[in-house]
Amino acid sequence: MPHFNKFVNFGYGPPGTGKTLLAKAVATECAMTFLSVKGPELINMYVGQSEENIREVFHKARSAVPCVVFFDELDSLAPNRGRSGDSGGVMDRVVSQLLAELDSLQSSAGVFVIGATNRPDLLDQSLLRPGRFDKLVYVGINEDRVSQLQVLQAILRKFQLDPAVNLQDVVDRCPTRMTGADLYALCSDAMTAAIKRKIQQINDGLDSEDSPVLLSAEDFSSALKNFRPSVSEAELLRYRSIHQELSGQ
Ligand SMILES: Nc1ncnc2c1ncn2[C@@H]1O[C@H](COP(=O)(O)OP(=O)(O)O)[C@@H](O)[C@H]1O
Ligand SMILES: [Mg+2]
Repeated sequence: MPHFNKFVNFGYGPPGTGKTLLAKAVATECAMTFLSVKGPELINMYVGQSEENIREVFHKARSAVPCVVFFDELDSLAPNRGRSGDSGGVMDRVVSQLLAELDSLQSSAGVFVIGATNRPDLLDQSLLRPGRFDKLVYVGINEDRVSQLQVLQAILRKFQLDPAVNLQDVVDRCPTRMTGADLYALCSDAMTAAIKRKIQQINDGLDSEDSPVLLSAEDFSSALKNFRPSVSEAELLRYRSIHQELSGQ
């Protein structure tokens, strides 16, 4: 078995920017066992059960090295201690257990931990100390047309496009801030428009069910007409300032 050093990474950024997608890609790229755990799944109302759930995740990981453990939606698991307002202090104990597991990882090679959150401001700061989730990766919004086009092309790989569609033109007509999820929603709206158009044409006797549904420039236009980005300018500014704060600028 190859030797690995402790490797703990943490992704944060606005919703829909591809954090979960990125972690899944890591799992597919590396030939390693991948354990994916959503924060809320670990929380249990029975006394002691939430800590037990965390112990169990790390136990599973250690018995399957090399292994990637992905904690998604980590903010729900670890709101700031003392501020969470839960009567039994469940969150406090959960965070303590998670910290204990992360700290004891140093000696056991081969377990890689990745975390992700949309709300880095809610995270318990003790999770971000050196030796814990100490490598922070900001997963931001695509604001330049080049990367927006790349994401659009990736999303549309499985769609059939009318050869007349110019994706550069579609991207140029998008709002400047587009998350990956926004671009996906735009494509799915265009698909809905294409299907409606196709049904209309079949009813009018102009098309048949045998030919595939092709996304046309017109379908993208109708999708763009009602499109609103999911992350507002104000939210984006808030993420930028958190990003600057966390990267020590
Ligand atoms: N960079 C990207 N490239 C392609 N698709 C993306 C990208 N980012 C997001 N998406 C699309 O948006 C969906 C939601 O992304 P997700 O990874 O769940 O975001 P997050 O976890 O950051 O909230 C994905 O399933 C995918 O369809
Ligand atoms: Mg996610």
